[in-house]
Amino acid sequence: MQIFLDTANIEEIRQGVDWGLVDGVTTNPSLMGKEKVKDFPAVVRSILKITPGPVSIEVVAEDHEGMMKQAEKIASLGDNAVVKIPMTLEGLKTIKKLRERKIPVNCTLIFSPIQALFAAKSGASYVSPFVGRLDDIGEDGMYLIEQIKTIFTNYDISTKILVASIRNPIHVVRSALIGADVVTMPFEVLKKLPQHPKTDEGLLKFMDDWKKIFPDGGFPL
Ligand code: G3P
Repeated sequence: MQIFLDTANIEEIRQGVDWGLVDGVTTNPSLMGKEKVKDFPAVVRSILKITPGPVSIEVVAEDHEGMMKQAEKIASLGDNAVVKIPMTLEGLKTIKKLRERKIPVNCTLIFSPIQALFAAKSGASYVSPFVGRLDDIGEDGMYLIEQIKTIFTNYDISTKILVASIRNPIHVVRSALIGADVVTMPFEVLKKLPQHPKTDEGLLKFMDDWKKIFPDGGFPL
């Protein structure tokens, strides 16, 4: 399962890449707003440069022609640029055209299994179901991932399931158990994943025991 960071924060991406944990990045207009991005092209270029894999950049046009123009600009920025297109009828039309031009698309704002199937049929490389936002309204977001996985397996669909709107480590574990292709998460969730209180406790004991033999903490090899 690939791990993407859901952020437009350059420092977070740098750190995640430095840890060797980040395979790609997803952004959206809200994340750009959170970082108070002024020089949009410079930020996008930096993210594309420091990220070792795909970077999703979202269009903000809602009509087909506008989306096509913005998509072509995004795609021209680098080989790892992926165009994020919303799940609408205009979006589906755009995905089909971009597929014909071999421009990779991440279809975003997926909340139902049929939306995912239609995005895949239109030629999206990724579908982004938003699990946290479904949990927020009392639905089981992860059940949507199970449904999409079953449908894609039934029809041998190669579109990747990119689980988005991740809020906690449980979302990540359940995604892996279901067999999702990618999870994209905030930096705060990424940092929590390798941690366990028993690991911290065990490490503390190892260090204390070592200092009983070598009080200066040396390693005399
Ligand atoms: O990238 C889109 C998605 O991950 C949004 O997450 O937390 O705003 O629902 P959230």
